Amino acid sequence: MGEENPFDDIADGGGCMITAKAMQQHRDKRRQKHSMLPYNIEDPILSLIGGTSLIEYPEPLAGDLRVKLEKENPTGSMKDRIAVGMILEMQRSGKLSEDDLVVEASSGNTAGGVALAANRLGYESVITTPETTSGQKMGYVESLGADLVTCPDVDSDHEDHYRNRARAIADERGGIFLNQYQNQLNPQVHEKWTGPELWDQTDELTHVVCPMGTGGTLSGIGKHIKEQDPSVEIVGVDAEKSNISSAFYGDEPVEYSTRIEGLGKSGETPTMWFDYIDRVESVDDETAVSFARTAATEHGLLIGTSSSAALKVARDIAEDDEDAHVVLIACDGGEQYFDIFTN
Ligand SMILES: Cc1ncc(COP(=O)(O)O)c(C=O)c1O
Repeated sequence: MGEENPFDDIADGGGCMITAKAMQQHRDKRRQKHSMLPYNIEDPILSLIGGTSLIEYPEPLAGDLRVKLEKENPTGSMKDRIAVGMILEMQRSGKLSEDDLVVEASSGNTAGGVALAANRLGYESVITTPETTSGQKMGYVESLGADLVTCPDVDSDHEDHYRNRARAIADERGGIFLNQYQNQLNPQVHEKWTGPELWDQTDELTHVVCPMGTGGTLSGIGKHIKEQDPSVEIVGVDAEKSNISSAFYGDEPVEYSTRIEGLGKSGETPTMWFDYIDRVESVDDETAVSFARTAATEHGLLIGTSSSAALKVARDIAEDDEDAHVVLIACDGGEQYFDIFTN
C-alpha cells in the first residue's frame, strides 16, 4: 500500500472506488501473509497455501457470520496446510530424510495435499485409500504423481484396511507414515498457522465453528484462539451417526453411518484436543446437504457438505444472538461434490 499503490488516487473517490480500494487491500494482505508464516516456504506452488479469505456470509442475520474459505488452498482444502507443515516439521526434527518415501492413508482431502507437498518437496509418495473414495479427490493424487493404492472397505482391524496397509507399506519400504489421526503435528500445524492467521483477520470474535474428522483443524485453531481470548466459544460439528460428539460427552457410541465426507469416521483420537473445545454439535446428513444447496442456490457460495453441516450450527448461533461474531471454517468447496447439487 502507500505511495506506490496505483489504486490510491481513485480509491479516494467513493462508491466503486471504495470497492477498488478494498480489493487492493485484500490483495496486499494476501501478499503480506508470508511475513506471518510459521514456515519459510519459497516454492511458488506451495506458497499458495494459507492466507485464505474470510468473507461475510451473504445472508442478513441478527449477528455477524463470516466464512473462512479453505477451498482457496491449491488442492482445495485446509489439508494442504498439514501436508506441507507435517513434512517440513519432520524434516526439521530429522524424522524424515531426503530419500524417504512419504506414505499417508486418506479417504479425502489429505490425499491431495500430501501428493502436492511431496511432489514439490521432492519426495516419492504413496496414498492408500478405501475403494469407496470418490474419483474427484483421487484425481489430485494421480495427477500429482503419487502412487495410489486402493484397499478393500474392511474393518479397521483387518490387515487390508487402508490405514494398516499404509503402515505396512511404510515399514516394508523404509518410508514414513504421516498418520494424520495419531500425529500431533496435525493439530500443531493448525495451532501455528491457521489459528494465528484467523486471529489476525478478526477484530471481534465470539465463536469459531468447524467440522471435525481427525479434529486437527479445530483443535489447533481452538488452542491458539483460547490463548488469545478464553471467552471465545470453540464449537465442533460432527455427523449425527458418528462418534466424536458421543466421545466428547462420554455417551454410548452409535453405529457409524454418514454420507458426509470429512466428518467423524472414528471416536476420539489423540489429535482431538477436547480441552480447547467447548461443545460438539451433531447434524444429520439431510440437513447438511440442504444447507449446501441453499448456500449455493440462494447465496452463490459453494461449500462442501461437512462445512454446510457446520454452517447450520454457525447460522443458528448468529441468528439467535445479535452480539455474536461467528467464524465458520469452510474446510473445502462444493466443487468437490457437484453430484449433491444435481441429485
Ligand atoms: C471436507 C472435510 N471437512 C472436515 C474435515 C475434518 O477436518 P479435521 O480432520 O481437521 O478434523 C475433513 C478431514 O478430512 C475434510 O476432508
